This record gives sequence, structure tokens and C-alpha cells, in this order.
Amino acid sequence: MDLTITDDGRLRVVAQGGDPVVLHPLWLRERLPDAGVLDPQTGQRLVDAADTPHDLRVTVAHTDGSITFSDGFATRLPSAWLAGAIAGEPAARPPVYWDGTLDPSAFPSADLSAVRDDPAALGALLAGLDAYGFAVVRGVGLDPDGGLALADLMGPIRITNWGGMADVKAIANAYDLTMTPRALEPHSDNPYRDPVPGYILLHCLINDADGGDSTLVDGFHAAQMLRETDPDAFATLATTDVTFRYRDATTFLQHDCPLIACNAAGDVVQVRYNNRTEMVGALPIDQLDRYYAARAAFWRLIAPASPLTLRFRLQPGELLMMDNYRLFHGRTGYTLASGSRHMRQCYMDRDTVGSRRRLLQSA
Ligand SMILES: [Fe+2]
Repeated sequence: MDLTITDDGRLRVVAQGGDPVVLHPLWLRERLPDAGVLDPQTGQRLVDAADTPHDLRVTVAHTDGSITFSDGFATRLPSAWLAGAIAGEPAARPPVYWDGTLDPSAFPSADLSAVRDDPAALGALLAGLDAYGFAVVRGVGLDPDGGLALADLMGPIRITNWGGMADVKAIANAYDLTMTPRALEPHSDNPYRDPVPGYILLHCLINDADGGDSTLVDGFHAAQMLRETDPDAFATLATTDVTFRYRDATTFLQHDCPLIACNAAGDVVQVRYNNRTEMVGALPIDQLDRYYAARAAFWRLIAPASPLTLRFRLQPGELLMMDNYRLFHGRTGYTLASGSRHMRQCYMDRDTVGSRRRLLQSA
């Protein structure tokens, strides 16, 4: 590893056979693996990075990794650490977009016994979930709380005002249209919460009525298509906050947010669609015109008849895990006279599942 200093005091590193990489002195300083900068036990920073002089320079650099800064701070960079520093963070894996032609043999899937016994199998399942936004777990059994056996492998479930594990089946006096036999249009769950539940674990106990197939739409794919075909509509949905609201006698949930949320780089990080609970505010007429046209364009991409809709049937003992930031889910209607449909579902937060995935991937 060859270390030299540029004219403006930056560190130039050349690995054998590699191109030169120039490191900013402040970037280098605030992440130094030195007990004077990072706590050796936690890896957390001990110094107030924002107080470091902005004109900091590297003044001495030797091939053995020894460096000195213009404020007199000196340390020695381990070669393995320096190799990692110039390699940079691994690029995030982009989502695998899919549509209604996705073959069931390509679904990320596993048996519960396999992921319970083998951390690598759980890691592979969660990697598939991350790539596709959903996964099917088989062999969960017919215990009403069987889904918790899978959840326990990842972490705590999200408890809401409705509790933890909840029934999804037709009941008298339903408090939500989910609890009726009617078809459910593609939607994301609970957009009126903050944060929105990250993952849905939907466990099938009975599914022998006529109808009641599951439908899924890759919302990130739909957003990408909207961006390509109608960039103005995409921009409108990404910049217009709408209100999602749920209210009953004991609960008043509300979240103001856009249907399409992007990060600072412009990548889509969350989509929401929930016809039952969305209301746009009293915006100026021309903004409403744009919003309604954009929402309709997005809806056409995710509507049940669209080519993006994936339709399949969950079998008893199977569990469908869905990314509620990315997917829209629904079902076809069913007739109670022909049989019954009973699912149980719970939520998990995004960081809980992401933590388990990252731990398994870095093991
Ligand atoms: Fe739902």
C-alpha cells in the first residue's frame, strides 16, 4: 500500500495494481480505528466530529500506515482497515422487479423447519425477501399462533392497538373491510401509522371457499414504470402529502405522507396505496387536478387487471411474508356458502427483520 500526500493535504492511497484513491482528511479522521477517536468496545465515536478543523490536512504519511495530521494527531492505519476504507461500502443490492408472470418456482421460499435449524437457510430466505419483497414459508402448521414460530427467529412482533396476532376472516359487524368476504383491492396496510408496519406475516389456516386467492403487486416496479412513462405523475405523487386516517372510539391514527417516498438520491424507498383510508387535503384546484390524474395513472399500473398483478392461492400451513413498504396486497372475493377462509396475521418492524438479515449476511 503506497501512501502519499496531495498538494492540498489529502491522503492518496494506491493498493497494489489498483488506481489511486484520495481520502478526505476529515473523512479519514472521524473514522480512524484509534482509541482516541472510536471507542474500541462499541466502535462509536468519542470526539465531536463537527468540531474538527475544516482545514485539517495530512502532513506525514509513510508506507507502513503511519500518518500525522496538521493538528498534531498521529496514528497508524492497519493495512486491512485501509484496504476496506478505499474499497468503500458495498453497493446496496437493487430490488428484483417482477410482474404477474413470476413463476411460483421462483418465489423466495423455505420450510419453517429448515430456517429454524439452519441460520444460513434463514439468511437466504431473508435475502430473497429483501430482493423480491415477499417470501412463502411452508410447514408452519395449523396452530393459530404458528406464525410466531417464524417471527421468533427474527425478533419481536409489532404490537398495535389491535394487539399482536390478529384474525383475518369474515365476521359479523366487521370493523374493517378486511373482515368481510369482499374482494380487497391492492393496498398497503396501515399507512395511517407512523412508522408504517414494515412486514406482514400472513398465516393461512383455512382456505377452502370459492375465491379468496392472494394478489400481490410489486409497488417499486409500478413506481419505476410510472417514472418512465409519466414522470410528471411520478413527481406529483412523490411530492404531495396526503392524509391517511383511522378512527374509532378509542383510537385516532393519522399519518401525512406521499404515496411514493424517495430518499435523497431519488430512489423509491416506500410506496403506499390504501383507497379505504386515504384523503387528500383541500389543495389548490390545479394541484388537485394533477394529484387525481397521477393517482389514477398509478392505480392503472397496480389495479387487479394490470399485468403487474401476481395471483396465487395460499394453502393451509403456509405463511406469506410481505414487505409493506414495497408491495401492495389484496385478495379475490370469496363466498361463505362454499367454505371458509381464515388467516392470522401479525406485523414486524422493518429494522427488526433488517437486523436479522444483516447479522446473518455478515456471519
Ligand atoms: Fe391488508
